[in-house]
Amino acid sequence: MTNKITWRSPSNIAIIKYWGKHGIQLPRNPSISFTLNHAFTEMTLEYRVKEQQDNRISLEFEFEERDKIEKFRQKMVAFLESQLPIFPFLIELDLKITSSNSFPHSAGIASSASSMSALALCLCSLENDYLGYHTEGGDFLQKASYLSRLASGSACRSVYPTMAVWGECNDVKGSSDLFAVGFESEIHEIFKSYHDDILIAATGEKSVSSRMGHGLMNDNPYASARYEQARTRMSRLIAALKAGDIETFGQICEDEAMTLHALMMTTSPWFTLLKPNTLKMIEILRGWRETTKVPAYFSLDAGPNLHLLYPDAFEPQVKELINNELKQYCENQRVIFDTVGQGAVKL
Ligand code: DP6
Repeated sequence: MTNKITWRSPSNIAIIKYWGKHGIQLPRNPSISFTLNHAFTEMTLEYRVKEQQDNRISLEFEFEERDKIEKFRQKMVAFLESQLPIFPFLIELDLKITSSNSFPHSAGIASSASSMSALALCLCSLENDYLGYHTEGGDFLQKASYLSRLASGSACRSVYPTMAVWGECNDVKGSSDLFAVGFESEIHEIFKSYHDDILIAATGEKSVSSRMGHGLMNDNPYASARYEQARTRMSRLIAALKAGDIETFGQICEDEAMTLHALMMTTSPWFTLLKPNTLKMIEILRGWRETTKVPAYFSLDAGPNLHLLYPDAFEPQVKELINNELKQYCENQRVIFDTVGQGAVKL
């Protein structure tokens, strides 16, 4: 008999960035992110007991980007093998994973946060179903977050609604380097309906992966000052999130985006993921904000796309700016309109 589990898990955008790690996927500094809504991965895991037992992971993988299937399948097999000490029963099963993303293939959006958290959630549900465990609620999400972290650091923040914090810090009770914790209840209402419009500056394959980028931080001469700075910013940001201080929020958000990219430019060998159109859009946004006083600020992931973050009340003005001035600098005029979301859901 074949059984089926499906999870939908979203992407997230970090405001304080995770950049630099040590040990087994442990962050050098705490990070915090907004969980997104429309940018998600939907993953179905089918399983049945192997007819003939052996000691290998048996995994079939289906994905819309055909040329990437084998590469992703191998990555997943390697991950599942590494998890055998926690999930030894995986070896007893024939597994089939079918995965699809809500955002277009070539949108240049990092999909590891949504896909790896979806995988972790499916595995935790599989453990419940197959072994008859009853892990639920907060414990279930914490376990899924822990497992997501092992697959991709930023993924551990995706399972929670609204906001999540990963990494031990004094300002957040229960925070840990091992898993993220939800951070919804303490933030001001205004942040719960924030928008994140993603302006697609370019969609090509990244020249340097996040994994390599984290590695290069080990020899970055500014690394220790950076980790200290992230902690200080985290404290200030948390106070701003609680108070509903959108200006301080926006300032820290932009400072972090630029710091992330400055760190890339100060490693050896240096690299940059920014494109001329990214800077062009930043310049336009800044000028427009000065004249209109609309509190829209940007963030950047490890890529050239601009994330425009702003409170719901300013949607009409920001849409006008995007349509009239920014869209022309996007590849094929592409923009993904997203908002803060409710976290992962089992379908
Ligand atoms: C720039 O989570 O992709 O998006 O742990 O090696 O999989 P791995 O790295 P990854 O790093 C993402 C870093 C970032 C900032 C962030 O999301 O905090």
